[in-house]
Amino acid sequence: MSRFTLFHVALLAASVAAQTSTTCNPLNATCPSDAALGTTYNTTFSASTTELDPNLWNVTAGGESIQFTDKGAELVISESGDSVTAQSAFYMSFGTVEIIMEAAAGQGIISTFNLLSDDLDEIDLEIMGGNESYVESNWYGHGNTSQYNALYHPCDGPQQKMHNYTINWTKAQLEWIIDGTVARTVPYAASGQYPQTPSILKFGIWAGGDSSEPNGTITWAGGLADWSKGPFTMTVQSIKITDGSTNASTYAYGDMTGDYSSITAVSGESKAYKVLHKQSTVQSVAQKWSGLSSGAKIGIACGVGGTLLLAVVAMTACCIVQRRRGRREKAAADQQWDENHNELMEYRQRMANGDFAISHLGHSEKF
Ligand SMILES: *[C@@H]1O[C@H](CO)[C@@H](O)[C@H](O)[C@H]1NC(C)=O
Ligand SMILES: *[C@@H]1O[C@H](CO)[C@@H](O)[C@H](O)[C@H]1NC(C)=O
Ligand SMILES: *[C@@H]1O[C@H](CO)[C@@H](O)[C@H](O)[C@H]1NC(C)=O
Ligand SMILES: *[C@@H]1O[C@H](CO)[C@@H](O)[C@H](O)[C@H]1NC(C)=O
Ligand SMILES: *[C@@H]1O[C@H](CO)[C@@H](O)[C@H](O)[C@H]1NC(C)=O
Ligand SMILES: *[C@@H]1O[C@H](CO)[C@@H](O)[C@H](O)[C@H]1NC(C)=O
Ligand SMILES: *[C@@H]1O[C@H](CO)[C@@H](O)[C@H](O)[C@H]1NC(C)=O
Ligand SMILES: *[C@@H]1O[C@H](CO)[C@@H](O)[C@H](O)[C@H]1NC(C)=O
Ligand SMILES: *[C@@H]1O[C@H](CO)[C@@H](O)[C@H](O)[C@H]1NC(C)=O
Repeated sequence: MSRFTLFHVALLAASVAAQTSTTCNPLNATCPSDAALGTTYNTTFSASTTELDPNLWNVTAGGESIQFTDKGAELVISESGDSVTAQSAFYMSFGTVEIIMEAAAGQGIISTFNLLSDDLDEIDLEIMGGNESYVESNWYGHGNTSQYNALYHPCDGPQQKMHNYTINWTKAQLEWIIDGTVARTVPYAASGQYPQTPSILKFGIWAGGDSSEPNGTITWAGGLADWSKGPFTMTVQSIKITDGSTNASTYAYGDMTGDYSSITAVSGESKAYKVLHKQSTVQSVAQKWSGLSSGAKIGIACGVGGTLLLAVVAMTACCIVQRRRGRREKAAADQQWDENHNELMEYRQRMANGDFAISHLGHSEKF
């Protein structure tokens, strides 16, 4: 019994460690397939939420600064250098993402979520803490930073109340929908000029206005962050993600074009699907339990008691190791987050220089 339990604890640790993120770019290398979502995932955060399920999420920075309250998952930053970032362990290939959230208030503080693919297709929503009437949408193809696709959309008090930000991403078009109103539509275009590869969802809070950031970023962020006014809190009430493919276990790259038609949705139950449907297995065990005689229940309870004790000891040891590792990984993750944002530098610099007046037209699109 004890060996069985420890074996399972070890398996759990091994499978978590095996979820390696691919740094492989399918445009110029043969890359492993991506784990698909392959279903719909919705979650509403509350005071009874204990964590972002590590089978579904990787918290790559600031994990200790996520609090769960009845308002939602609160991502908090309070001093220079702080950021909180969570990214899905699964990919979606087209589909919809609905995030109901209240952005952090505070000049220079950015609340954001984006879809990011292995070949650097990217779909963004960024909310400046000091701008109470507009939010920004942006996208990239193949990480091409010479594309200036940012636009601003009217939004009433994104820091004052929850809003429904929905991305509707199909083979035909990409839409940003704010509280049910389509704010922006981008029509399909060729690979590199339209995001079309399997993507993870990433969300978080950071200070584009920190004095350590380049001037262009500080300007883009709406000015210098004033940490004496913190802490700054982004609150995510709920997330709902519907993958464009159902019954997909992985997404396999067929060639190096970055064209969606070269990517195969391999059918089967995804790891995420299995995680999400574990609940029904638990329920059927509960039903079986209620059907047992009380003698059988007592026998099982004694066995389980001993096993649980061992499991608690093993899990505690794992948690301590994980937490130590978490601290070490945070620095690396922070750096990666910064690098991701550095790719936006050129654009931000141009914005700061006023080269980008067209983005202020709000609803208008340039095609
Ligand atoms: C997710 O976290 C696991 C450890 O929990 C790590 O091995 C893996 O590389 C992470 N994946 C990404 C994409 O960061
Ligand atoms: C492959 O793409 C990555 C990311 O764009 C780039 O850094 C790397 O230099 C490329 N490698 C080759 C061989 O083209
Ligand atoms: C998922 O969505 C359904 C239907 O809208 C809802 O009843 C359910 O409570 C949601 N689940 C979570 C965990 O938010
Ligand atoms: C908010 O953003 C809009 C669009 O970029 C801009 O015109 C406005 O000046 C900004 N307001 C503040 C307070 O930064
Ligand atoms: C990047 O995008 C710009 C603007 O659309 C385009 O002129 C340029 O050719 C693109 N660069 C690459 C490498 O595709
Ligand atoms: C997304 O777009 C598709 C195609 O236009 C449409 O059928 C669907 O209703 C849209 N979904 C949402 C949530 O708006
Ligand atoms: C959020 O907006 C989307 C797009 O309009 C809509 O389909 C969805 O029902 C909305 N969610 C809620 C909880 O109202
Ligand atoms: C940034 O702005 C500050 C204040 O305006 C100025 O002193 C500094 O030289 C600027 N730095 C760069 C790199 O432009
Ligand atoms: C899902 O894919 C598996 C493997 O190809 C197949 O056996 C199963 O019938 C599919 N289920 C659905 C609901 O399409």
